[in-house]
Amino acid sequence: MPAVKDLGDDTVHVYLNGKFVAEENAMISIDDRGFLFADGVYEVVHVYGRTLFEWDLHMARLQRSVAAVELPPVDLVSLRHVAEELVSRLDASESEASLYLEITRGTHRRSHGFPPAGSTEPTVLMWVRPVVPISRPTIEDGVPMISVADDRWAKVWIKTIGLLPNVLAKHKAQQAGMFDAIFIRDGMVTEATSANIFIVESGTLHTAPTTNYILPGITRQVVLELAAARGIAIDLTPFSYESLLDADEAFLTGTLTEVLPISEVDGHRLRHTSGPIARQLLEDLHRRAGWPGSL
Ligand SMILES: Cc1ncc(COP(=O)(O)O)c(C=O)c1O
Repeated sequence: MPAVKDLGDDTVHVYLNGKFVAEENAMISIDDRGFLFADGVYEVVHVYGRTLFEWDLHMARLQRSVAAVELPPVDLVSLRHVAEELVSRLDASESEASLYLEITRGTHRRSHGFPPAGSTEPTVLMWVRPVVPISRPTIEDGVPMISVADDRWAKVWIKTIGLLPNVLAKHKAQQAGMFDAIFIRDGMVTEATSANIFIVESGTLHTAPTTNYILPGITRQVVLELAAARGIAIDLTPFSYESLLDADEAFLTGTLTEVLPISEVDGHRLRHTSGPIARQLLEDLHRRAGWPGSL
């Protein structure tokens, strides 16, 4: 199963702790708390052309994550300047890119407690890499999924770099020749390893409510707005694994995933493997991004 939005092979433009650096000079200490404890938060922003899609929404979520893990507040104005500088370094031929931003609690000799006040600065890393757009056949075929138990912690709403359960679930899916895994908690669908999930049942759009048990996706939020603008009925009550299997259509949403139809779950083919509402919303998303897209 090919990865969607493969990162381009080589070009990466990097900023680390106040400097634009060549990739080979971007060094992080063995005592960085992100490395030692996954003590950090991150964001990923989709770059369409030279536009940072929904930058303000991503930064608002970043501030919430930063506050939740008690990092010092970030200076959003300077982050924006850094992001724009990195994006300006992309080649004209590199039409879509991924911007990755990570902030950790900084570098200090290993000890679980926070470093003493004033003893370290947060590590700030940002990079931009071109991505290969999702192919039309992938959208037309939809992607096959497995389900796994959602055994993550109770604060998945914070976008922390501690993603081992997601990594293990994705690996399990890939080993089974599938695209990704859907987390199920108490019989209810929460989300996928790096995307939110929607289903359509008799014309109504369902997605899990924003509780502590999902990451409140920026794309999820945008898609809900786009659906409302089209007059599509929306239901934000939890939905079960059985209703996923019985749905008319189902799709993933995410920054780089965009709106991606699901074809099957645990070997059970969905009624529409690439449904009309998913395609409509993908088109609307591209329009909002000012992007021609792949449909
Ligand atoms: C667990 C999880 N859920 C949902 C999403 C989708 O969020 P967004 O649309 O902001 O990319 C992500 C994105 O990385 C994620 O990691």
